[in-house]
Amino acid sequence: MNCYLNGEFLPLDQARVSVEDRGFQFGDGVYEVVRVYRGKPFRLDKHLARLEQSVKGVEIPLPEPVARISEVCLKLIEGLTDGQIYMQVTRGTAPRVHAFPQEIRPTFVAYARAVTPHAPDRVYSLKTIVDDRWGRCHLKAICLLPNILGKQRAVEAKCDEGLFVRDGLVTEGTSSNAFFVRDGALLTLPSDNHILNGVTREAVLELARQLGVRVRFQPVPLTDAMTSQEAFVTGTLTEIMPAVSIDGKPLGKGTAGPVTLRLRGAFKELTAKECS
Ligand code: PDD
Repeated sequence: MNCYLNGEFLPLDQARVSVEDRGFQFGDGVYEVVRVYRGKPFRLDKHLARLEQSVKGVEIPLPEPVARISEVCLKLIEGLTDGQIYMQVTRGTAPRVHAFPQEIRPTFVAYARAVTPHAPDRVYSLKTIVDDRWGRCHLKAICLLPNILGKQRAVEAKCDEGLFVRDGLVTEGTSSNAFFVRDGALLTLPSDNHILNGVTREAVLELARQLGVRVRFQPVPLTDAMTSQEAFVTGTLTEIMPAVSIDGKPLGKGTAGPVTLRLRGAFKELTAKECS
């Protein structure tokens, strides 16, 4: 029973949602992805707090109390070691009209799957993508067309991740946050409506503080990003991934840099400590 749909546990391949679900027709919903290490969810509370913020932001009632959702997640991952939980809340099912239908109940689905951990020496190459997303990227909305098109352009260019650039400034990756190292300091955007404030990003900022790495919250011009000594992207499934080139141009020595590797090591220790 690795799936939970509207109050019922069932096998994922038996879960069904109506074609008139507004998630399917309008992308009218929000989601979360949680990483599971050693059978324990990493910072589930933070993901659930963000889920609450996202539903509020798009005016969908939370389908179940947070404590119940948390219980559901723990049940779904029974027997999993390395895994992920995907959960999604849509406005619900009703005949198609744009405005919110009356008498509609949100659809809530959550399911768990195994994850294959990244090879420890994995690095990413980045491809820049025009950031033409809407103005509320801090909400984890399921309408991800710019993100998937951006990722596809990156893959077609034999890169691993698309790097969104808005008006000459880097915002974030298509499914990750971006960090750059210049003169020993970590540069990243302040969290605003142009990026999703990642749970992994917040963990990295905590670790940077602990390790004494200076952090500068500032918009990062692409020109500065391209000439940074190091870069990395972060995300629940991405973890901390060194970025070694942007649009084919190597960053620094073109390998994972020392600040990145220290943070990556510290993140591994953090997940081991919190998920044990
Ligand atoms: N995405 N920015 C965007 C646009 C993202 O989609 C994600 C994560 C992040 C990183 O957030 P976090 O560290 O909380 O995972 C930043 C998820 C994992 C996804 O869509 O699969």
